[in-house]
Amino acid sequence: MNSHSTAKFVFLAILCAISLNAKGADVIRTHYGWSFPNPQLTDQDGNKVRFYEDLVKGKIVLINFIFTTCDAYCPMDTARLKKVQDLVGDRMGKDIFFYSVSIDPVADSPHILRAYRKRFGAGPGWTFLTGDEADITAMRKGLGLYTEGFEKSKSDHSQNIMVGNDSSGEWMRRSNMDKSIVMAKLLTDRLSGWKNSVGVANDFAKAPTRLKDIPKGQDIFNSRCMDCHTIGGGDGLGPDLKDVFRTRDAAWLKSWILAPNKMLEARDPVAVALLHQFNGVIMPNLSLPEADVDEVIGFLRSEVTQLDRNPKNGERKR
Ligand code: HEC
Repeated sequence: MNSHSTAKFVFLAILCAISLNAKGADVIRTHYGWSFPNPQLTDQDGNKVRFYEDLVKGKIVLINFIFTTCDAYCPMDTARLKKVQDLVGDRMGKDIFFYSVSIDPVADSPHILRAYRKRFGAGPGWTFLTGDEADITAMRKGLGLYTEGFEKSKSDHSQNIMVGNDSSGEWMRRSNMDKSIVMAKLLTDRLSGWKNSVGVANDFAKAPTRLKDIPKGQDIFNSRCMDCHTIGGGDGLGPDLKDVFRTRDAAWLKSWILAPNKMLEARDPVAVALLHQFNGVIMPNLSLPEADVDEVIGFLRSEVTQLDRNPKNGERKR
């Protein structure tokens, strides 16, 4: 090569590299022919990663979108995923990986995500990610986890979860309301081609079979509260509720369950102290109608009464 053509070659190579970095790699074609979002993101430890190439390729993954200052559904979703993580067990970080991507990336810096991750007890294989807001929105659209016209504020973002096996090219969009056992089964059995199923299978017997017959208050507790609370089984992400009728009055309880965020905003002293005691994990405002709050309080009361009669029953709520 003479010096002229060398210069030309170098110039072309640089052009090529620039255009690849600037655009080419934001979406990538998978071996099953889908366009998969591949933006550059930053994880909670500050590592730069390409979403598809570094995190998804060849793995069984669960992807959801959150933001750390959310006081509505995200804390519940994160608490539920913690349960799924525990059920998946030691396959987490081996062939099964969770990715929680911030939709408020300007506020959610890596160190904020690192603290949030720790607060919720996320372990190996569960990565929290931030990045460029436009990239993340494009990513949500690419994954079908964006509801056009619905997203007026961050709290309205789509709560759906994408789970899939990139090796087999099977993807499913699931609801954030899926019970943790159902989600764990999907990851360990269904998306794993029913191979290598771990302990989770043995717990299937514990899943309720007749949902409709469960009293309303209990159904609400199981689907909305149980990821964070027990009744007599000890503290979880939130306090054990066994003493709650001794320590709080009825009006406080009702306003708290209706809108914990409002009580915090009003600097209610009990609310402020509890938040501090529970490491800043915010009890979510679940937007429950008042009638549902009454139902769930009724259920709590009957459980606590039973527990007082027979303290051993608390074991099964663990
Ligand atoms: C994401 C986890 C989470 C979910 C879901 C959740 N809570 Fe909480 N809850 C907490 C935390 C954490 C606290 C402690 C206060 C704080 O940090 O905000 C709390 C506090 C409480 C308290 C006050 C306890 C006390 O000692 O005074 C009650 C009562 C309560 N929650 C009931 C419920 C009910 C009922 C539901 C379901 C409808 C529910 N919670 C759902 C996390 C949660």
